[in-house]
This record gives sequence, C-alpha cells and structure tokens, in this order.
Amino acid sequence: MFDSHVLEGTATLHIERVREEASVVRLDTRGLSIATVELSDDGRDWRETPFRLGTADSILGAALEVTLSRTATQVRVAYTTSPGASGVQWLEPAQTAGKVHPFMFTQSQAIHARSWIPLQDTPGVRVTYSATVRTPSALRAVMSAALDAEAPLDGEFQFEMRQPIPSYLIALAVGDLAFRPLGARTGVYAEPSVVESAAAEFDDTEAMMTATERLYGPYRWERYDLLVLPPSFPFGGMENPRLTFATPTVIAGDKSLVALVAHELAHSWSGNLVTNATWRDFWLNEGFTVYLERRILEAVFGRGRVDMEATLDRQVLAEELARLEAPDQILHVDLSGRDPDDGMTQVPYLKGELFLRLLEESVGRDRFDTFLRAYFEHFAFRSITTDDFVAYLDEHLLSDDAGLTETLDVDAWLEQPGLPANAPRSESDALSRVEQQADRWASGEVAAAALETGDWTIQEWLHFLKSMPERLATPQMTALDEVFGFTAAGNSEVAHQWLLIAIRNQYEPADARLETYLIGIGRRKLIKPLYDELVKTPEGRARAEAIYECARPGYHPIAVSSIDEVVRP
Ligand code: BES
Ligand code: ZN
Repeated sequence: MFDSHVLEGTATLHIERVREEASVVRLDTRGLSIATVELSDDGRDWRETPFRLGTADSILGAALEVTLSRTATQVRVAYTTSPGASGVQWLEPAQTAGKVHPFMFTQSQAIHARSWIPLQDTPGVRVTYSATVRTPSALRAVMSAALDAEAPLDGEFQFEMRQPIPSYLIALAVGDLAFRPLGARTGVYAEPSVVESAAAEFDDTEAMMTATERLYGPYRWERYDLLVLPPSFPFGGMENPRLTFATPTVIAGDKSLVALVAHELAHSWSGNLVTNATWRDFWLNEGFTVYLERRILEAVFGRGRVDMEATLDRQVLAEELARLEAPDQILHVDLSGRDPDDGMTQVPYLKGELFLRLLEESVGRDRFDTFLRAYFEHFAFRSITTDDFVAYLDEHLLSDDAGLTETLDVDAWLEQPGLPANAPRSESDALSRVEQQADRWASGEVAAAALETGDWTIQEWLHFLKSMPERLATPQMTALDEVFGFTAAGNSEVAHQWLLIAIRNQYEPADARLETYLIGIGRRKLIKPLYDELVKTPEGRARAEAIYECARPGYHPIAVSSIDEVVRP
C-alpha cells in the first residue's frame, strides 16, 4: 500500500520436516506485525495455531515460533510490514524519472528478506516460490521469477520461481515500468523515459551470456532480464535471479560502466547456482564473481580493459586492507555477533579474485576452466561452505601435486589477514601512460590543454583523477575544469572522483554540483565517500549536515544507516 508504505499479505510456507519429532518451526522476522498463523496438512483446510514473537535483536530481528502439529505440511502467516522495513524502499513520484507514479522495491541481501517476508532467512536454505502481487492499476510488478512482460496492468500479477533459491534472492519491484527486449532471452525493464537509453547501454548483454556459457556451462535460469531502478537504489547492482536490479548511474551513454552487468550476470553461476551457505563464506559468492566478471569482460572487450580494471582494483584493495582491522582482512571472516552487512568490504571481492587468479595462473587456464565448469555443475542449486570448497579443490585440482599445495598456501589465503606474497600482479600499459601524463601536468611541465587524452576510456580518466596530488591550488583546479569540464561530467564515476578532489581542495565552483549529486543519487558507494571527505573539516561537516538534511529522506534505509554513522555519529 503506497499511501501507508506497508505490504500486507500472507506467506504460505511448505515445510520439509528434517527432524521427525520437531514440534516448533522458527521463522525470522524483523519489524513484522503478525496477525494470525495457521496450519494445514493439505493446503485446503486451515486451522489457527498459537505463535510467539520473541524479543527483537537489533541485528537479527525477532524469531517467530510456531507450534506445529505432527501432520502439518504448510504454515500460513498473515502479516504486515512496517513502514521503516530495512529491506523495502517506498519512493514518492518526485523520486522517479517519470515524476507521476510512486515506486517500491525490495533489497533482501544479506538478511533483509525477513523485514518483508517471515521465513528462514539464511542462504543455507533454498526455496521455490509462487506469488500473487496486487498493485494500484497502471503500475507493473516484477519479481526474481518467471516474468510475463506483456501481463496486463490490471492490478494483479502472478509469479512463479521454479528454481530453488536462497531467501536473499527473493525480490519485488513495483512502478511505472516498460520493457525492451535486448536479445532472444534478455531484456530490460525501466521507467518509460529511461528504457531506450537502458537498452542501448546494455546492448552487449546477450554477448556476455554467450561468452559465460562457453566458459562455465549452460545458463540455468532460462531468461536474463535487467531492471533499472530509480537513483536511490543503494547498490550498483543486485543479482536477483532472472532479473538483475541495477542503478541508473551505470547508464553513462557509452557502455563504459557495463562491467556491472558482467558482474551481476556472473552471479547466475557463482552465487545464485552455487551459493555461500553462510555469510562467512561470502567470498565464495563475490570473489568468484569478480573473477568471472573479468573473464567475461576479456572475452567481450579484450585484455586491455581487464588489465586496467585489475590494476585499478589492486590499488582499491591495498587501501581497503590498510583501513581494516586484521580479522576483517580474512577471506573466511568471523562475523559472529555482527551484522553480515559488515562483511561487505573489498576483501571478499578483490582478495577473493586474486586467490582464484593465482589458482588459474598456477595450474593453467585450460585446467582451471575445466575445474570451474565441473564445480558449478557439481554444486548446482546448492549452498556450500568454504570447507566444502577447499575439500573439492583438494580433490579435483591439487591432490596430485604436493609442491603446488605447498606454494599456494591455501590456508594463508583463506584464514590469515593481509595479502600473501604470491598474490598475482597486474600491469596496465595504458594506466602507466596516464600516470606519466598526470605527473607531467602536476609538476607544471605541460598545460592541461596539451595533455594527450584523445582516446582515453573512462577507466583512464578515473585513473588520471586518482593520480592527482593530494593538494591542488585553485588555479590548477580551474585549469582542469576549463579544459576537461569535470564539474559538468555526466559519467557518475568521473563526477564522483572529481567531487572528492573538489571537496579536498575547497573548489567552490563545484559546490552546486556536489549538492545535486548527493541529493539526486542514493548509491552508497558513490555518496558515502563524499560525506567521509566533507566531515574532515568543520566547514565541510556543516555543509554535509545541511545537504544530508535534504538528501536523507530520499535515501534507502541501508544507505541511511551507513551515512548516519558519518554525519550523525
Ligand atoms: N550482491 C552484491 C550486492 C550486495 C552485497 C548487496 C552484499 C547486499 C549485501 C552485488 O553483486 C554487488 O557486488 N554489487 C556491486 C557492483 C559490482 C560491479 C562490484 C555494487 O553494488 O557496488
Ligand atoms: Zn556481486
């Protein structure tokens, strides 16, 4: 219900009795109001049953304990969500591209599904689902399930998800959505005014799918569609099965940021097919996915692009490791007593990718590709732990090679902080040339207009900005801006990098742009670093507070909780 910002409905769970004598089932909830709980033996006759909602834990929410009869096979919970549900964002028309209709979407990873569905909210349990969603007419509902792009806008939508998935991949969005096909089994949903540019941007999706299938075996989810969300979407992308959710900030007009599509598509193998059984094993999802993402990019765009991304990310990882305490530098991280969202650092992504690249370089690409293909086949539609992976690795890749096992030192990679000395290195000639240019400009050797930036890609521009000295004088800022127009940059990543520099150097001509950027975008990765930079000085903190006051009501609960820590500690 858009006016009250709540979902109201029933969840019917088909339960599989693992222990014969079990007499209660415990479901996860957070902020749900439970009206009734009923049991059924056959899905036709229902009887109410007592339930108990435990005290709420600040991270886990409240357990819903339902007393079971010996014969019950289904549990039906009638409930409403709370307006502040951590996994749901309700948008006013003004926050959409069309400005006429409201919009809502869910974000379940890591443990936010429980804020909109009572269920066993762990990646160790998989479910199939069917759903009926009622909406205001004129709006379209989509889910991480089989979709009918032609479904009439009559206020009721049916969904069926036949492949078993973990709870964090259940997703729903409702809004004024149009659809454009991209290929035979790919397409994009977005608001009508966005859908054409989205289709042009994501034009390579079908080619990426073909490339991934060639490497890692068949795509097991039938269709792959993308949904472009309004700008408050807190992440770059979310790999909801059959329907990736994506930020509109990747629609750059030149396909420069479509690595994100390669990444979310790759999760159709690493993550959605073979899933981390617990959030400690998150690197099995993200490390594998970054590795696959690079292989897809290499296949579709060539090696040069990948060398750049890898070189840039090596720097990102070094900065992240310098910032994190030792326990959080471990791939198989200990999250006991913590919010699993705390595990979402660069470590599972980039240290994980380096470990897999090391394996590839050690055994050769052909053998490693064969290994991975068999791994996805072997564990398909299952949730596995780090130990399961290590056992499979030992048996299928390392068993006959004691020397290799010794030099790899899997234990150091998975269980120790820091970066092992055998980490693969990356080099990008293109980026080295960019650094030289940046140095020559910064030292005054050449003027901005004389720099050779002719055919630079976005990755080169980003590296140019990152290679700037910590401090720039106002005339230097002005010169860069006049020649390259950074304040007006349309590319969200370039604008982000420039605004960081602008804040650091108190470059006033970018003030207005900073404000519209922070109010218009809700993607945490692009906005939080800007607030971090602002609060470093008293004047900056005052500005951060004023801008945040305006921007906060438009941000997603996930972004709000991270940025509150910075601006309102
Ligand atoms: N699954 C993640 C997003 C996520 C992780 C949401 C943990 C909540 C908790 C997704 O695949 C992802 O990694 N997105 C990245 C983009 C990617 C190109 C690195 C993001 O949103 O920045
Ligand atoms: Zn990911």
